[in-house]
Amino acid sequence: MGTGRARIAASILDADHSNMAYAVRRAEKEGADRIHIDVMDGHFVPNLTFGPKMIEGIRPRTELPLDAHLMISEPGRFIDEYIEAGCDSITFHVEIDEPIEPTLRAIRAAGRAAGLAVRPATPLTALEPYRHLLDIILVMTVEPGFGGQSFMRDVAKEKLLAAREYLTHKVHGAEVHVDGGVNRESAELVGGLGVDILVVGSALWIKGHDMGREIRLVKALADEGYQYCLNDGKPPIPRDKMVTFAQLPKHLAWQFMREIEAGGVPVIPLRGSGGFNPDGVRDYDLMVPATVEELVEERHADDRARYEADAERWREEYAREHGWTDPPNL
Ligand code: DX5
Ligand code: ZN
Repeated sequence: MGTGRARIAASILDADHSNMAYAVRRAEKEGADRIHIDVMDGHFVPNLTFGPKMIEGIRPRTELPLDAHLMISEPGRFIDEYIEAGCDSITFHVEIDEPIEPTLRAIRAAGRAAGLAVRPATPLTALEPYRHLLDIILVMTVEPGFGGQSFMRDVAKEKLLAAREYLTHKVHGAEVHVDGGVNRESAELVGGLGVDILVVGSALWIKGHDMGREIRLVKALADEGYQYCLNDGKPPIPRDKMVTFAQLPKHLAWQFMREIEAGGVPVIPLRGSGGFNPDGVRDYDLMVPATVEELVEERHADDRARYEADAERWREEYAREHGWTDPPNL
């Protein structure tokens, strides 16, 4: 637990706007890692939401970092207000018609993370002149403006991995965010494309839905996608899965276990599903982690054949000397 890499930013766009303090506290309690705040000016996008006053109001209500996503035409004009409101990161759109660099510099000078967002139709190359000033790239997988739209798969595939390349100047702490239509359906794909922050909006605020479960599910799926991608598209082997490598009578099983463990591979001996021996005791299963199954095969397949032959000889001898004991009634 807690080993995954995907982080969830809960977008409060679709929360109850009459009670944002409650919304952020709830998201925190249910396991969100950040709060994503969609600021819209009715000009850059055809919708209107909240401003710096609201952000200032919720700042003391949660310990979580606040990510502002400014969908406004003139971020430069208002940037100080968003900084003062207590945003931890501020991301605005590269498509605006005003100089971008001074605003990025102002955000960074205030010690906050600076980001640029791209609409679905905007190529990443638009970010090229500013890449050295970026802590965050936010890739939009819906048209900005509203929650609850469908995820644009092709945009995600085209841009998410590529966005990481744009952040190579920052060895630690750079983040790719994906925003729009992220939910349990799309989480595995975006996780596999190495995204750091999944912005989840409407999927969290469905009436009667368990928000915590949704967050856990989206995270787990994103991490699974990431593991798949590290594993060349093959299903990852769970770290806790064990497989049976050999079945032997107890005294031989113990000896073989010590030999395998001498090579650094942990073995669990279980009185398992093997056949009964003339001493009335079942064979023991020697279980090894599935992640090293191939290695153990390579090292010890010949030894196993030898041990099995020994076991056969021992059974015959034992039976000759003591006769067969009937298996206990199970
Ligand atoms: C849309 C916003 C998103 C929005 C996502 O313009 O930028 O942050 O809240 O909502 P869903 O997850 O419903 O697409
Ligand atoms: Zn957003």
